[in-house]
Amino acid sequence: MPAKVDMDKIVSLCKRRGLIFPSSEIYGGLASCWDYGPMGVELKRNVKEAWWKSIVQERDDVVGLDTSIMMHPGVWAASGHIDNFTDPLVECKSCHLRWRADAIEGKKCPQCGGELTEPRMFNLMFKTFMGPVEGEASVVYLRPETAQGIFVNFENVVTTSRKKLPLGIAQIGKSFRNEITPGNFIFRTREFEHMELEYFVKPGTDEKWLDYWVKERFDWYVKLGIRKENLRLRQHGKDELAHYAKDCYDIEYLFPMGWSELEGIANRGDFDLTQHAKCSGKELSYYDAEAGEKYVPYVIEPSAGVDRSVLAFLIDAYCEEEVEGEKRTVLHLNPSLAPIKVAVLPLSRNEKLPPLAKEVFKQLCPSFVIEYDDSQSIGRRYRRQDEIGTPFCVTIDFESLEDKQVTIRERDSLAQIRVPIGELKKVIEAKLKGEAFDASTLWATRQK
Ligand code: GAP
Repeated sequence: MPAKVDMDKIVSLCKRRGLIFPSSEIYGGLASCWDYGPMGVELKRNVKEAWWKSIVQERDDVVGLDTSIMMHPGVWAASGHIDNFTDPLVECKSCHLRWRADAIEGKKCPQCGGELTEPRMFNLMFKTFMGPVEGEASVVYLRPETAQGIFVNFENVVTTSRKKLPLGIAQIGKSFRNEITPGNFIFRTREFEHMELEYFVKPGTDEKWLDYWVKERFDWYVKLGIRKENLRLRQHGKDELAHYAKDCYDIEYLFPMGWSELEGIANRGDFDLTQHAKCSGKELSYYDAEAGEKYVPYVIEPSAGVDRSVLAFLIDAYCEEEVEGEKRTVLHLNPSLAPIKVAVLPLSRNEKLPPLAKEVFKQLCPSFVIEYDDSQSIGRRYRRQDEIGTPFCVTIDFESLEDKQVTIRERDSLAQIRVPIGELKKVIEAKLKGEAFDASTLWATRQK
């Protein structure tokens, strides 16, 4: 059963609250291209940071890399992308719309019912020319995956990091695919961001590491708040494996259009290093000093889409609920992903409140991404913060001027606690780490 929220509601919230806008909107937009607004850019950064933290920062067997988008064309010949990175395309003989042959049912055009051509293979890589001369010799491709930048740097990283296998190399960056049928908002676009890990292991241990990474990656989404019942694993059938893969699992999410791929975890075997060694003439093997042998490592690749993850986090967090007789839309985002951690809100625009409220803002802004808002009624400002998933609102009222205490309101429980301004940073830090929002709070306990 598809997720309960319609995609239209997510698209509309994203536009209304500055998360995601259609690209080039004042010119009528550009199909499948989207821009991240002030809130969206924070959410996306947080998703990438959460990935980097769990994949690179918190481990001693993975290092990071940032390689160029354009690479030597030989890379794509060796990797098999020039020959194999294709989708079957059919064209309607009447309206000339083009479709992915494997994504439509029947033999007629879904748009006008017209007759379709026989399928032909369509390469998904974007081609362009490097330098001032446009010719075959200057053709380059925009990378369709970040993985190849990692494979061609394997030797550089092993020698400079002086790490032993198993060793992972991680990269986050833009990829480009000339998809025949993009759509479903940011689910499938022609320009998107990848978060990819290539984990190099000793042949023979690859199956064990594939299982390990499938579990790790599944648990990452759950830890960050995606409900387990909206996630499932699906192993690829032999006929759907990518040209480089020995085995592959998809982590699927229950998107509004049904179960669809969120992330793929593939066993690429030694395909890539062997191909690059053959085509470049450079040896790409590893000397295992402990075993006293040399081999071409196998690779386990968890490959996730930043944008698709953002979409899944948004959908899973989205909720319309009734609070004190009033309807509210709220994003129950994990606080670590929320674009704004704290909103600082003077109760009213009365001139006595802003000086203290601005002092609070100044005190907190070096530590958290926060927002100061003194427009409209306090109720409307709370609703706005709920809609972008802000976990905490700090309200400065007239009593605050006397007792130098402020109220923190928690997004999910709507509970409120009163905290001295001097303690605010510590209390919010503890709450963001998951400390309970009740009488056992850091501040309340300390007062006893
Ligand atoms: N290097 C392996 C690889 O790229 P993939 O299954 O083609 O594998 C991995 O892509 C992930 O990248 C997908 O699970 C998805 O999250 C994301 N992705 C792929 N194509 C995408 C597109 N056109 N738009 C948005 N995200 C995409």
